[in-house]
Amino acid sequence: MKIRLLDKDEDALAFRDIQIEAIRDMPEAFGETLEEALSKPDSEFQSKLSDRGNGDFVIGAFEKDRLVGVVGFHRHPLTNSSHKGYIWGVYVRPDFRRRGIAMALFKKIIHKAKESRDIHLLNLKVLTKNEGAIALYEDLGFSIFGTEPNSINFDGKAYDEHCMQLVI
Ligand SMILES: CC(C)(COP(=O)(O)OP(=O)(O)OC[C@H]1O[C@@H](n2cnc3c(N)ncnc32)[C@H](O)[C@@H]1OP(=O)(O)O)[C@@H](O)C(=O)NCCC(=O)NCCS
Repeated sequence: MKIRLLDKDEDALAFRDIQIEAIRDMPEAFGETLEEALSKPDSEFQSKLSDRGNGDFVIGAFEKDRLVGVVGFHRHPLTNSSHKGYIWGVYVRPDFRRRGIAMALFKKIIHKAKESRDIHLLNLKVLTKNEGAIALYEDLGFSIFGTEPNSINFDGKAYDEHCMQLVI
C-alpha cells in the first residue's frame, strides 16, 4: 500500500469516484446529497486537491495504483483559529477495511500537521451510531468533547454527531 498526497491533475477523477462511492455507501454521513455530488463539475473535485497555499490537502491510500482510501485536511483560515485543523471525507473502500489503511492515513496527517509546528488541535465530527469510526478515532487518541443533536438531516431522519478532538 502506498500513501501519498492527491494531485489535482493526476488524481481528480479517482477522487471524484471514491467520494461518490462514499456518499452512496453512507449518505447520512455527508452534508451533501448524492444528487448534489453527481451534478458537480470535475473542476470542483479538482479544486479540493489544489494547493491554495492554505495548508489544505487530501491524502490517499493506493493498492496497485487504485485509490482505496482517502482523508481530507482543512486548516482554519482565520488567524486566531489557525491552530486548528479539521478532518473530513474519511473513507476506505469496503474490500480494504480492517487492514490498517485509515490508521495509516491518519498517522500521515498527524505527522504532517505536527511538521507545521503551529497546528495544535485536530477536530472532526462523526455520527454517534458509527461505532467503528469512533473506535478508530479513540485508538488514535481523539476524545469526544460534545455531541450535536440533529446534526445531519437525511431523508426525513435526524442524526446526532459527536465532536472529537486530538491535541497534537
Ligand atoms: C471507519 C473506516 C474509515 C475505518 O477504516 P479502516 O481502514 O477499516 O480502519 P483501520 O483498519 O485502520 O482500523 C484501525 C482500528 O480502528 C478500529 N476500527 C476500525 N473499523 C472498525 C469497525 N468497523 N469496528 C470496530 N472497530 C473498528 C479498530 O480498533 C481497528 O484496529 P483493528 O482492526 O486492529 O481492530 C471505514 O470503515 C469506512 O470507510 N467506513 C465508512 C465511512 C465512514 O464511516 N467514515 C467515517 C466518517 S466520520
